[in-house]
Amino acid sequence: MTVLVTGGAGFIGSNFVQQWLGARDERLVNLDALTYAGNLANLAALDGDPRHVFVRGDIGDRALTDHLFAEHQPRAVIHFAAESHVDRSIHGPDAFIQTNVVGTFSLLESARGHWDSLSSPDRDAFRFVQISTDEVYGSLAPDEAAFSEARAFAPNSPYSASKAAADHLVRAWFHTYGMPVVTTHCSNNYGAYQFPEKLIPLVIVNALAGAPLPIYGDGQQVRDWLYVDDHVDGVTRVLDAGRLGERYHIGGLNQLTNLDVVRTLCAVLDELRPKAGSYADQIRFVKDRPGHDRRYAMDARKIERELGWRPQHSFEAGLRETVQWYLDHQPWVEAVTSGAYRQWTTLQYGA
Ligand code: NAD
Ligand code: DAU
Repeated sequence: MTVLVTGGAGFIGSNFVQQWLGARDERLVNLDALTYAGNLANLAALDGDPRHVFVRGDIGDRALTDHLFAEHQPRAVIHFAAESHVDRSIHGPDAFIQTNVVGTFSLLESARGHWDSLSSPDRDAFRFVQISTDEVYGSLAPDEAAFSEARAFAPNSPYSASKAAADHLVRAWFHTYGMPVVTTHCSNNYGAYQFPEKLIPLVIVNALAGAPLPIYGDGQQVRDWLYVDDHVDGVTRVLDAGRLGERYHIGGLNQLTNLDVVRTLCAVLDELRPKAGSYADQIRFVKDRPGHDRRYAMDARKIERELGWRPQHSFEAGLRETVQWYLDHQPWVEAVTSGAYRQWTTLQYGA
C-alpha cells in the first residue's frame, strides 16, 4: 500500500514523513515543489530508503498528479502543501491563492478521478486528509471560549482566507461528490525543521546571532502552541479513524502571549548557551502585523473523545528539545538563512 503526501519537504510534512516511515512499513510518495520553504535536507535521514519516493512538482500540475495517482495507486492523500506564512501573504498574496486555493482544487479533482476509478473495497477505504489551521476562524476576544468545530469561518489574512477557501472546496467535494475527505485544523506548531521566518525559530536564530528579537505590537497576542510530533500523531489518528466529512481540531491546550513565549525561549537559551547578560536584552518591540489576530485557542475535545488523541509533550519539554535541535543543527540553519532569506528579512524587518 502507498500514501501520497504533499508538502513533505516542509516543516510539518517532513516531520510527518519521518515519523510515518519510522513507525510503518508503508510506501510514501512525497510530492513537493521545493519552494523556499521546502528542503530536501529535512529528509536526508531517508536517503536510500526505497519506501520514500520523492517527486519534485507542483500540486497544481494536473498532468503530473494524474500520472502519480495512476502510477502509485495511493490509498490516501495527506495534503500539507501550502504557502504558510502570514507575513509573506501580506506582502504578496498571489502565490497563496495559486497554491492554497487553485492548487488544492486541482489536487482534489485529480484525487476524485483516481477515487472514481476504484471499486470496493479500495474505493471505500480511500481518504483525502486536508491539513488546515485554526486561523480560518479569525480572532478570539480575551475571555471568549476556544474555537469549536461548529464555529463559522472568519479569516482575516490573505493566508487564512486562502486556507478557508481550500477547506470550503474540500467540504463541497464531500457533499457533492461523496469524496471521502476529513479535515484537521491545528494551532501553532513548533519543533525541528521549522523555517526561521516563524516566531520560535526566528527568535532562536536571531538570539544566537546577537540580532534583535522582534515582537510585533505589544506582544500580547495569544497563540496555542503545539509540539510538531503531537500534530503528526493527531493527523495520523484522523487518517486512521476520523469520520468522513468531519473537521477535527488539534490544539496544544497551551495558550501563551508572544512576549511570554519569547521570554521563555530566552531563559532556555540562557541555560543551554550562556553568554554575558541575558538573550532577553535583545527583545525589541517593532511595528505590528497589519490585521494581526489577537488570540487563537482550540477546543480539541472532539479528537480526544472520538480518537483518543491528546498532546503528549509539555511546552517546556518541547521547547527545550527544539532549542537543542537548532543548537545541534547549525549547518542546516546556515544553509536556509543564506541568500533569499536575507532579502525576506530586509523586506519584513528593514535593514
Ligand atoms: P511550510 O511552509 O514549512 O511547508 C510547506 C511545503 O509545501 C514546502 O515544502 C513547500 O515546498 C511545499 N509547497 C508549497 N507550494 C507547493 C506547491 N504548489 N506544490 C507542491 N508543494 C508545495 O509549511 P508548514 O508549516 O509545514 O505547514 C504545512 C501545512 O500545515 C500547511 O497546509 C499549513 O497551512 C498547515 N498548518 C501549519 C501550522 C504551523 O504552525 N506551521 C499550523 C496549522 C496548520
Ligand atoms: O495558528 C496556526 C498558524 O500558525 C499556521 O496556520 C501558519 O501556517 C503558521 O505560520 C502560524 O501562523 P502565525 O502567524 O501565528 O505564526 P508566526 O510564527 O508567524 O507568528 C506567531 C506570532 O508571533 C504571531 O502573533 C505574530 C508574532 N510574531 C511573529 C514574527 C515572525 C512576532 O511578534 N514577531 C515576529 O518576528
